[in-house]
Amino acid sequence: MNIVQLTDVQVEYTGLHTVQALKDVTLSVEEGEWITILGPSGSGKTTLLNMIGGMERPSTGEVRVADMQLNKLSNEELQDFRREKIGFIFQHYQLLEQFTVLENVMLPQWPYLPKKEIESRATERLSQLLLAHRLHHLPGELSGGEKQRTAIARAMIHSPQILLCDEPTGNLDRDNRDNVLACLRSLHQNGMTILIVTHDEEIATYGDRILFLRDGILKERVEA
Ligand SMILES: Nc1ncnc2c1ncn2[C@@H]1O[C@H](COP(=O)(O)OP(=O)(O)OP(=O)(O)O)[C@@H](O)[C@H]1O
Ligand SMILES: [Mg+2]
Repeated sequence: MNIVQLTDVQVEYTGLHTVQALKDVTLSVEEGEWITILGPSGSGKTTLLNMIGGMERPSTGEVRVADMQLNKLSNEELQDFRREKIGFIFQHYQLLEQFTVLENVMLPQWPYLPKKEIESRATERLSQLLLAHRLHHLPGELSGGEKQRTAIARAMIHSPQILLCDEPTGNLDRDNRDNVLACLRSLHQNGMTILIVTHDEEIATYGDRILFLRDGILKERVEA
């Protein structure tokens, strides 16, 4: 079964300059697949993840994810969809500066799940990601890698159906990167669908499929 179906998706940013960030993108992803997305800076990788995660709407085309036609949902329905179905590891973390590490991980699911349960899940994830000693620190007191791992814990806490990862290991040393990779592999083995933007060649080898974006055009990568 396809968990993601994009059909003729175009994204055009209009402002001071007009940019065609995605051009006629059609993509099917089966449930449980691990897809790697490669492409140069500015090629549309983050825009593509934003479409799938319901963070933005396409200019034209259809986006169907987990049996929902995202372009037909109201803003409120889209918010529920994101919270329930999607885990998103943002390229620039997007942590809330006034909340602690533990609160940042808990907040998106609170009050939708019992607080005790969220707190124990959040603590467990943060410990797995070697952040047990930073639970009550503010983001401003963290290193780049610690922020990244906090963002990863937040994306995983509700065991989403689909995990969208935008350069999840860009700021990590080898041990932490291996640790994040082990988390991703275990989630994948348990059936999670993973789409990952990465420049890490080793991580790219774990995928079932590699997609390549250039100037907003998506291609299955053809090996030389
Ligand atoms: N909010 C926006 N307004 C206008 N243009 C945008 C906006 N977001 C992205 N773009 C443009 O769309 C194109 C694709 O951007 P996107 O962020 O998807 O690239 P990317 O492949 O993720 O790049 P990087 O590897 O640098 O993160 C870029 O050329 C960018 O300038
Ligand atoms: Mg990007």
